[in-house]
Amino acid sequence: MTMVEYRNEPFTDFKQEHNRQAMLAALESVRARLGRTYPLRINGRKIMTDRSIVSVNPGRVKQIVGYVAQADAHLANQAIAAADAAFRDWQHVAPEVRAGYLFKAAALIRRRKFEFSAWLVYEVGKNWAEADADVAEAIDFLEFYGREMIRLAQPQPLTPLPGEDNRLTYIPLGVGVVIPPWNFPLAIMAGMTCAALVAGNTVVLKPASASPVIAAQFVELMEEAGLPAGVLNFVPGSGGEIGDLLVDHPRTRFVSFTGSRDVGLRINERIARPAAGQIWIKRLIAEMGGKDGIVVDSSADPAEAADAIVASAFGFQGQKCSAGSRAIIHQDLYEEVLRHIVEKTKQLTVGLPEENHPIGPVIDESAYNKIREYMDIGAGEGHLVAGGDIAEGDGYYLQPTVIADVLPNARIMQEEIFGPVLAVCKADDFKQSVDIFNNTEYGLTGSVFSRNREHLEYARRHMHCGNLYFNRKCTGALVGVHPFGGFNMSGTDSKAGGRDYLLLFTQAKLVSEKW
Ligand code: SER
Repeated sequence: MTMVEYRNEPFTDFKQEHNRQAMLAALESVRARLGRTYPLRINGRKIMTDRSIVSVNPGRVKQIVGYVAQADAHLANQAIAAADAAFRDWQHVAPEVRAGYLFKAAALIRRRKFEFSAWLVYEVGKNWAEADADVAEAIDFLEFYGREMIRLAQPQPLTPLPGEDNRLTYIPLGVGVVIPPWNFPLAIMAGMTCAALVAGNTVVLKPASASPVIAAQFVELMEEAGLPAGVLNFVPGSGGEIGDLLVDHPRTRFVSFTGSRDVGLRINERIARPAAGQIWIKRLIAEMGGKDGIVVDSSADPAEAADAIVASAFGFQGQKCSAGSRAIIHQDLYEEVLRHIVEKTKQLTVGLPEENHPIGPVIDESAYNKIREYMDIGAGEGHLVAGGDIAEGDGYYLQPTVIADVLPNARIMQEEIFGPVLAVCKADDFKQSVDIFNNTEYGLTGSVFSRNREHLEYARRHMHCGNLYFNRKCTGALVGVHPFGGFNMSGTDSKAGGRDYLLLFTQAKLVSEKW
């Protein structure tokens, strides 16, 4: 197979008129396809059910994006059985052939880039750039994991022993249950699914209930790429009705989960108990929350730091586990940086994602209510200096909100809000800033703005998070460039888009032959 070296998919420049026009055309064409019904898929069969998940546009709540068939316990069991049966052959398909499906899928998505972006705009309320980045990241995961599998399939280095032929191979685990999030409903969903598949596992995919249409489109595309029946099974459904069943099933070998801390911990507890007939210890690959922050040193450029803080806090309405929801600023620059933050925040318009406003809606009513509660909690814990209220519109719109003068132990400095709320905290000196940054049970992303080399080196050693950035925002990790994943309550310390990620979906087998 000829393969070019891996490079990240470029982002689309919407300032170019032809790209803007292409996006408008895609939005129009997808709008005409809203409200359709999608089947679930088990062993290559498309199955319609009586009940469906209704996917609603969070920016225009009367607009239905689609209806997706909902699986019950019986169908969930069938999906596991189908994946289990398909594993018998799929595990022996050559790694390059498995990788080939990912490369083909990447090519198919690339061809329909604007269309996928448009679906993301409607289904989860991303603005154009956020949607485009999601699609680019999906392509990156496919291209990257395909190459990674080919690399892992090469002869692995072992210490030579005369008279013996020793070989180590990475073999798959078995049936994986993949439970992705709604906030990167294409990229993370496709990445988690395809990492498992390319390593030789079969998958039962339970999409997030807020973004099942994108997932249905992706599963259809994998079928178009030629993936054999039963290798990828698609069972939308509720956590209570089928989630536990899939996780608990004795034929489930591993669970790959991205979502909240509480659900991740619950899965962790459940998989620890072996079911009757289970012959392995289940593995969990979990990416959970974050309470990420940006530290601003006294040597930083105030306007540059404020730009990054605003982008990290409010990109996709703060609905990223990487979102910088805390700004920890040295007292000497505090007032100036805060002034810039407030100015820049107030410039952000809130409105329909189709119209490409910087800030769109949050995902659903329960998020909307929870975030509003946090705005009130925050206003009691510090000074409200921007936002703090709902915003106009036919959806779940909230103003980007900044709360200043918050103390390190305040709830809005500790709890993940997953919405457009930024807490700003003052520090006496750099070391104290780092202590405040580390004062959380999470450890996902962080940034430091400083021109002081000693301080940057101190931060490199002492800031405890999986993705630490210097003099840039703390969101937007690129596949292969910034392997992504965090410590402590942020998950199981995995690194999506990194060279060790596929190992999590494999086990190493050593065969030694005496000559
Ligand atoms: N990988 C994303 C980021 O870095 C979050 O999931 O922003």
